[in-house]
Amino acid sequence: MCGIVGYIGKKNAYPVILTGLRHLEYRGYDSAGIALFSDGIKVHKKKGRVSDLEKFIEGKDVSGTIGIGHTRWATHGEPSDANAHPHATENGDVAVVHNGIIENALTLRSFLQSRGHVFSSETDTEVIAHLIEEMENEKSKSFFDSVRRALNRLVGAYAIAALSVREPGTMVVAKKGSPLVIGVGEGEFFVASDAYPISEHTKKVVYLEDGEVAALTASGIVEIRTIENEKRTPRVKKIDLEIEALEKDGFDHFMQKEIFEQPCAVRDCLRGRLSVPPKKAPVLNLGGLRDVEEKLFSAERFVFLGCGTSWHAGLIGRRFFETLTRVPSIVQYASEFRYEDPLVRDTDVFVAVSQSGETADTLAAMKLAKERGATVLGVCNVVGSSVAREAHAGLYTHAGPEIGVASTKAFTTQIAALFLIAARCAEKRNALGPRRFGELLETLRGIPEKIGDVLGREERIRDIAERFGETKNAVYLGRGISFPVALEGALKLKEISYVHAEGYPAAEMKHGPIALVDENMPVVIVAPRGEHHEKIVSNAEEIRARKGKIIAVVSEGDASFDSIAEDVIEIPECDELFSPFLSVIPLQLLAYYVAALRGCDVDRPRNLAKSVTVE
Ligand code: F6R
Repeated sequence: MCGIVGYIGKKNAYPVILTGLRHLEYRGYDSAGIALFSDGIKVHKKKGRVSDLEKFIEGKDVSGTIGIGHTRWATHGEPSDANAHPHATENGDVAVVHNGIIENALTLRSFLQSRGHVFSSETDTEVIAHLIEEMENEKSKSFFDSVRRALNRLVGAYAIAALSVREPGTMVVAKKGSPLVIGVGEGEFFVASDAYPISEHTKKVVYLEDGEVAALTASGIVEIRTIENEKRTPRVKKIDLEIEALEKDGFDHFMQKEIFEQPCAVRDCLRGRLSVPPKKAPVLNLGGLRDVEEKLFSAERFVFLGCGTSWHAGLIGRRFFETLTRVPSIVQYASEFRYEDPLVRDTDVFVAVSQSGETADTLAAMKLAKERGATVLGVCNVVGSSVAREAHAGLYTHAGPEIGVASTKAFTTQIAALFLIAARCAEKRNALGPRRFGELLETLRGIPEKIGDVLGREERIRDIAERFGETKNAVYLGRGISFPVALEGALKLKEISYVHAEGYPAAEMKHGPIALVDENMPVVIVAPRGEHHEKIVSNAEEIRARKGKIIAVVSEGDASFDSIAEDVIEIPECDELFSPFLSVIPLQLLAYYVAALRGCDVDRPRNLAKSVTVE
């Protein structure tokens, strides 16, 4: 949510920052801006996409070897030129870009106005620029010190990059609750909200910790201190990322590419963790859990935390854990959890699920669980992200960068990682016989190929999407482990095509929602073969009797929907426990094609951002 980029070195900063902003546009895209340092600070900013900013800047002075840039997802103040970042003081002496939310912005704004500061935007961020200037006027010993002291007055979350005319060769950056990475080059530094825009320039990075402030010049990291002024030593890490992974590879959209990457992504998630030696029992090797094994294997309860799609993955994870380990498990919306004064025991193991690893609600929930004595695992995709660093232990999903705002491969790899952890716990607890354990892991190993099989039915799903026409509403139904898949299908459709869609447990329909059904209502039913299959067939009959247009996702060879459904999409036969890996794929493709055929901006749906770093 909001992307920050910065450069300081010998090159012209503008192209470096512009390219970086393009890579970070998935984080927000309602306005963009750049501040460049050459003979004072020059700010260029514009409502709209990074491409609008680029057009706006054409012909203007873009010289300077130091600069900061921003792509915005609005929190305080509507998307507009004035509210776009960077925000500068009225004399232009200080400029700031910010990701996060300053909760005491209104109080600070009144205080600063009483001191004569004039504001030109409605944002919370502008407060930071004026506050830094206020500290500069109070004669801090350096620009770094002004920023540090200003940050002490802020309540809320931030990652910032700031420039001041007082020290033309310095950029000050800081982080608390929102991500910020510093790339270390030869005589140059890069700053960004995640490591991808940096990875094309250098593989050496410093992840700032919460509450740290750093001063950068072209010749080095001058200092890192906490906002309380304790000295810190930078810890340089090597990253293993390739910027090429951010290209579309001939697909029309990143979302489409990422849907098709799922066989490979799930394989990468299992790689090195699940091996099946010939004629021997499968072996699980989950090094990421080593530090917490004792707690994990004796847990009395598992609690899954997540938001959106990651919460749906948690719902499926819960089912895996209860089925395999027989340990009671629950799922909580991370955004609700900490406001419920939750009961947490030291025998609980929490599992925080997050693609970005930066979702503010998920992070706050895991911190609370830790404070109250629980062991906390992280299952996330972005290496070095805040969730990964906050967790006691965990697994990366290794899905590769997910750029499309709608999560697809993140979901299937999250459930793969959750299955691995559940299976390992079950093995250690002797909750499964060796035969069942072997069968399950054999099935898991075969899942990537089966996902590939479903992807082969793309054309058919595109045809169904064409017939969706101008439908404004849709219902998704499932039972048992297919219910979270129905929720996920509905979320995909609404977020990228703006068609209102609801997911329900199929049998709940007759308790109210069935009133919505008429001949115009598409009803997507997720009904792979399984224990209670005949029950969902009956639910489908109830829909059909009200003239609903049924699209059924069924197991290969299942004819039970032939006379009920308008359209049937088959998925390969598999143990019902694994069906979400396969049944979600047609729903992702359906949402994708409905949105693409309607001309929606699939990768950048309105009002959304990829990484939600505000509460
Ligand atoms: C939906 C989607 C969101 C995210 C949610 C959590 O397609 O992408 O619902 O799942 O914002 O994000 P992460 O997984 O990064 O914590």
